[in-house]
Amino acid sequence: MVQFPDAVNEQIAREFAASQQYVAIAVHYDAEVLPQLAAHFYRQAVEERNHAMMLVQYLLDSDERVIVPGVVAPQTEFADAVAPIRLALEQERRVTEQIAALVALAREQGNLVGEQFLHWFLQEQREEVASMSDLLKLVERAAASNLLLAEEYLARVQIGEQAVDATAPTAAGGAL
Ligand SMILES: [Fe+2]
Ligand SMILES: [Fe+2]
Repeated sequence: MVQFPDAVNEQIAREFAASQQYVAIAVHYDAEVLPQLAAHFYRQAVEERNHAMMLVQYLLDSDERVIVPGVVAPQTEFADAVAPIRLALEQERRVTEQIAALVALAREQGNLVGEQFLHWFLQEQREEVASMSDLLKLVERAAASNLLLAEEYLARVQIGEQAVDATAPTAAGGAL
């Protein structure tokens, strides 16, 4: 059976891959001159990078080996303006399952400290799936008439969390 610290290392690679995918989506929207959508995904990319570094800090604190991974290349071509957000929502749902599996593994191996550490990530995934799902609905609706409606909306209302989360675990080297 895979040991919990190894599974955490695997999750570090997935968080960095998620970050890279969001950079690719942000750049795609930037090239399409949709700056609000681009800004949203540039921010998400930094968040995913911070998630990876929180997992790194956890392993450092636990005196476990940290593997800084290479990442799987992100998707950079998209069929239409909605496709990147569909991909992002799928990614968030997949990560939610991965985190839940990590929690289950920690519990199975009697690693209560590891399990408790992951609780913040469960809450974060609930929020990220919800906000990505909202964004998908918004952009689907706007894409039917004019994508600039989504840009205008996002200029007024930020989807997802606004402030620094004081309950977030420490990221190695400090959160960006
Ligand atoms: Fe994440
Ligand atoms: Fe995420």
